[in-house]
Amino acid sequence: MIKIAPSILSADFSKLGSEVAEAEAGGGDWIHVDVMDGHFVPNITLGPPIVSAIRPHTKLPLDVHLMIEQPERYIADFAKAGANVITVHAEACVHLHRVVHMIKEQGALAGVALNPGTPAYAVKEVLSDIDMVLIMTVNPGFGGQSFIPGTLSKIRQVRSWLNEIGRPDVHIEVDGGIAEETAAAVVGAGADVLVAGSAVYSRPDRAAAIAAIRKSAEQ
Ligand code: DX5
Ligand code: ZN
Repeated sequence: MIKIAPSILSADFSKLGSEVAEAEAGGGDWIHVDVMDGHFVPNITLGPPIVSAIRPHTKLPLDVHLMIEQPERYIADFAKAGANVITVHAEACVHLHRVVHMIKEQGALAGVALNPGTPAYAVKEVLSDIDMVLIMTVNPGFGGQSFIPGTLSKIRQVRSWLNEIGRPDVHIEVDGGIAEETAAAVVGAGADVLVAGSAVYSRPDRAAAIAAIRKSAEQ
């Protein structure tokens, strides 16, 4: 089953409650929340108080993508705020294995993200400890960028390792430039959670936008 995770980075921040509710009503599976610190990526977005504020507006899992340095400092705060999935970047964690287990101890699903320039090997040693690998299909920091086709081989590599270790249940999420035009290719390579920011929130009819991505993904 393919999951579509609308990213609120492209939503109207003055009405996040109704924006997440529309994504849920429109058939989204998870709500993707992009946290940026102005250090790991050249942009600043939001923190745990915003996650708490949107929590009552949807029953969907909140999928929190931490694009921050030293994410271990904030994992408990995001879990308490209502995050169900917490993803840290391999590039931001000196002690990745420890950080993954901190996330699990908080009762959240643990994800590890890789930038386009980071090899798949950076996640290999923790594959049996985690619930999701997030393969960035753009350089993180901004919505509305173009999909990088070279990331498809990394998706295939990680899916093949997951099959080898008997963990086909581990999600592969893709994030960046995902739309009707790119969904089929990433799913064909082995992704099963598709983040979509501008492809959902730049369109007035969010249900139609989500349905179009799902149709392409499930072909
Ligand atoms: C980028 C973020 C993405 C962003 C994707 O750094 O991690 O989640 O919202 O935006 P689109 O789907 O517009 O490429
Ligand atoms: Zn993201």
